[in-house]
Amino acid sequence: MTTSQGLKLVDLDEAGVDNAFRADVLAGLSQEPKAVPARWFYDDAGSKLFEKITQLPEYYPTRAETEILRDRGAEFAKLIRPGSTVVEFGSGSSVKTPLLLSAIEPSAYVPLDISGDFLRASAADLAEKFPGLPVYPVEADFMRQVELPDAVADLPKLGFFPGSTIGNMVARTAVDLLRSMRETLGVGAQLLIGMDQIKDEDVLVSAYDDAAGVTAAFNLNLVTRINRELGGTIPLEALKHEARWNDDFARVEMHLVATHDITFEVDGKSFAMAEGESIHTENSHKFNRRTSNMLLLAGGWEPTKRWLDDQGRFSLLLAEARAPRSAP
Ligand code: TRP
Repeated sequence: MTTSQGLKLVDLDEAGVDNAFRADVLAGLSQEPKAVPARWFYDDAGSKLFEKITQLPEYYPTRAETEILRDRGAEFAKLIRPGSTVVEFGSGSSVKTPLLLSAIEPSAYVPLDISGDFLRASAADLAEKFPGLPVYPVEADFMRQVELPDAVADLPKLGFFPGSTIGNMVARTAVDLLRSMRETLGVGAQLLIGMDQIKDEDVLVSAYDDAAGVTAAFNLNLVTRINRELGGTIPLEALKHEARWNDDFARVEMHLVATHDITFEVDGKSFAMAEGESIHTENSHKFNRRTSNMLLLAGGWEPTKRWLDDQGRFSLLLAEARAPRSAP
């Protein structure tokens, strides 16, 4: 995959396997404790399982955030600059994005995604729903500054980053991303960002360990992918999905825990896990008013408004990239 600027986004080997996937898995399994970056969940099977997760009774974030987007349109219209170009970090959801776009009368829509095929499909879907709205999909890694299309250069910008995806990053990475967003969108831009709330531990853990076992299947699919693409021999039946609340870091962690001692190979290299040892596969940080404000400020964004769903489970925050000024 190559961008318009000739940058290579994905580097595949002769067998069509992503070299970055191989490097991440080998490094992650070699370290103590073991961990594999969550971005590798999303092969075809993983993306389908994730879609199912968002519909589970225990998984409230998608419904709670959608409720805010549906109910607060009039307030968005008042606070978001008229004629803003909506720059979405990610391909966009077929439900959430239209709710925002209908509320604010945008001048253009620019979805940014590293995965070109998915990006073009969802952009085409959106263009059909909003005839007359210019849609400019950009294939890019939004963890770095992105060059926006010339056509939107002089229009006000609204960044959109729903889903509490910011919470899937550790603080340092989240701050790097917020700062990149500020570079991409420029001083004066606004950002509408979803952040899931700290709440009762049982509710949080159940959202990542549902009764039907869909999240377990999602987590274990990573192992299936490693075995298939990297010649792995990891015994699936020896790994158990576990969701844990880490109170110090205010996050739900997903792990794959060995139920007995195992040895296996990946890409010709040998690994061992003792009973009870885990592979850490995902973090989902949760926030309150103060920590979400602190994170935004650390990333160069001044919070201006915060909305919660009726049950107070999920927050959407509006923030602004103000010009630097003296402060005590
Ligand atoms: N950002 C969402 C969350 O943390 C979605 C998500 C990312 C997710 N990875 C996940 C949901 C793994 C369930 C399991 O809730």
